[in-house]
Amino acid sequence: MRLLVTGGAGYVGSVTVEALIEGGHEVMVIDDLRTGHRQAVHPGAAFVQADVADEAAVRAALRHQPCDALLHFAALSLVDASMRDPHGYFQNNVGGTLALLRAVTAEGVHRVVFSSTAALYGTPERTPIPEGATLSPENVYGETKLQIERALQWLARTTGLASVALRYFNAAGASGERGEDHRPESHLIPIVLDVVRGVRPEVLIFGDDYPTPDGTAVRDYIHVLDLADAHRRALEVLEAGQAKAYNLGNGAGSSVAEVISTVQQVTGREVPTRVAPRRAGDSPVLVADASLARSELGWQPRRPELGEIVEDAWRWRQAHPHGYGA
Ligand code: UFG
Repeated sequence: MRLLVTGGAGYVGSVTVEALIEGGHEVMVIDDLRTGHRQAVHPGAAFVQADVADEAAVRAALRHQPCDALLHFAALSLVDASMRDPHGYFQNNVGGTLALLRAVTAEGVHRVVFSSTAALYGTPERTPIPEGATLSPENVYGETKLQIERALQWLARTTGLASVALRYFNAAGASGERGEDHRPESHLIPIVLDVVRGVRPEVLIFGDDYPTPDGTAVRDYIHVLDLADAHRRALEVLEAGQAKAYNLGNGAGSSVAEVISTVQQVTGREVPTRVAPRRAGDSPVLVADASLARSELGWQPRRPELGEIVEDAWRWRQAHPHGYGA
């Protein structure tokens, strides 16, 4: 297929572009490089530097290179930052996406795969979390993604738009060539690896009084290559008039303390830690029930072990000590 990928210079987007191109798809990336990296964009993809909210730029790109479907990764994606900059998050993630959807549909693109999030579930009533669980985000970031999922449902009903929302749990790991390079970095695994490399003095553990076995927050870490594979499969189940949603996780939770000890095992180095207050907007436990993705997408995570996920992240970091910089 001919695919338009927004955010193809970001972490999950760039790894997915790599997988799509390897799978024989033709890809055009639109990214404003606000948080993404030009070097992360696969050389086989066409590249347009633009904001997804720039309807004229998006329409011009599609007229130049028509596409069959949109994969929309571009977004601000930090829980903590979203609580400090709600206007920016609504403007970018909701306003920007609505403008993008208007532009692509005006150019004849009626199939959309949307990057959504486990943050939709807030503090779930039970775990693992099925897609039918109550959607009640506890941070602005999750709320922005929920608003777009709702818009996609209405657009399916009113215009026949076909969409799949993929609710990622915690993306982690790397492909051989592409990995995680956020600036500043706020995600747990790359931060722990920075401490191992001596770039940071210690890991702050945000809260050790959660209602979890060791008191630290539990997340479902999913290999970014498994996420990429799910996008390829999602393209196959797009149906006119249907807005579908799938959880993407391993169904196994790891606590912050377990992640730190796994990094110590993988790298053979000690990791100094210090307990700090809880971070605003964080849920105690987010673990996926991804059985729907397994049955409907035929998706099966191939790298479910946390050790392997950390090994791949570590290998990429060692090969790219400055990330995508110098
Ligand atoms: N954490 C620490 N210390 C750190 C960084 C993180 O203790 O220095 C903790 C967090 O408080 C959280 C866990 O490690 O409990 C994971 O934090 P991340 O920042 O790595 O990831 P989040 O769970 O906050 O968020 C990620 C994505 C979101 C997505 C969410 C869904 O960034 O986009 O997963 O689970 F919504």
